[in-house]
Amino acid sequence: MSGELAGRVALVTGASRGIGRAIATELGRAGARVVVNYTANEAAASETLALIAAAGGPEPLARRWDVSDEAATNAAIKEIADGCGALDIVVNNAGIAIDGLLLRLKDEDWQRTLAVNLTGALNVTRAASRYLLKARDKGRIVNITSVVGEQGNGGQTAYAAAKAGLIGITKSLARELASRGITVNAVSPGFIDTDMTAAHVQGEVKDKLLAQIPLGRMGTADEIAHLTAFLCGPRAAYITGQVLRVNGGLLM
Ligand SMILES: NC(=O)c1ccc[n+]([C@@H]2O[C@H](COP(=O)([O-])OP(=O)(O)OC[C@H]3O[C@@H](n4cnc5c(N)ncnc54)[C@H](OP(=O)(O)O)[C@@H]3O)[C@@H](O)[C@H]2O)c1
Repeated sequence: MSGELAGRVALVTGASRGIGRAIATELGRAGARVVVNYTANEAAASETLALIAAAGGPEPLARRWDVSDEAATNAAIKEIADGCGALDIVVNNAGIAIDGLLLRLKDEDWQRTLAVNLTGALNVTRAASRYLLKARDKGRIVNITSVVGEQGNGGQTAYAAAKAGLIGITKSLARELASRGITVNAVSPGFIDTDMTAAHVQGEVKDKLLAQIPLGRMGTADEIAHLTAFLCGPRAAYITGQVLRVNGGLLM
């Protein structure tokens, strides 16, 4: 297999749909053996595997577990790394948005939003880090944060807190792992056309939003995937601890 990620093993969480699916396909196209994590939608995960295979990605695998479940995460990552013989690249993409104004925000929604978006990424990264340490300067972590974590958004206090926390994890770990040549970065999308935004960004809300985006449109999952794949490769070896924005100019 040729490609700049040939021989690497990459885990993408939340890769059955949307941005994660596009990232998994792009990493496969670059030659990585990709593991597609998801939590519920088996049919969608199978479609992602087919897209990776069609892009030339070697032997993609799908593994179902909830990243907020620490024990399940530890077991799955051990099984993946033992089975594939390595784990070089982790993309923490799994995420959910449960929106609500603060006065109506339920405790359980706050906790679930943090559990999946923030603790989930921590669980995966902690379990994977012993394998990434063996990968040394091939090791890459990319965390998918959000413009909302950087500038906030009314009705998204929990989501914003989780995504801002992910930026803190990114910068701390970048410092912690730099001596081994492992890079840790965050990609911060603006509003991207996926199931997540289809559920929340519609009608008048969408029109108002588009009016604030200098490029005048929502982004595509592929536009997030291209940057993420670059960060996972050898050409990005000197980029670490950064938050890279792909948002059509929404936040500059
Ligand atoms: N779309 C945007 O505008 C936007 C903007 C900024 C940041 N982001 C971030 O980008 C990431 C992907 O968003 P998206 O728009 O592609 O979302 P999406 O279309 O809703 O897809 C979410 C993915 O995450 C998986 N997932 C959800 N909870 C999980 C859990 N507990 N454990 C494992 N996997 C889980 C889903 O799996 P199932 O298919 O099994 O449900 C699915 O593959 C998220 O972190 C999101 O916060 C999105």
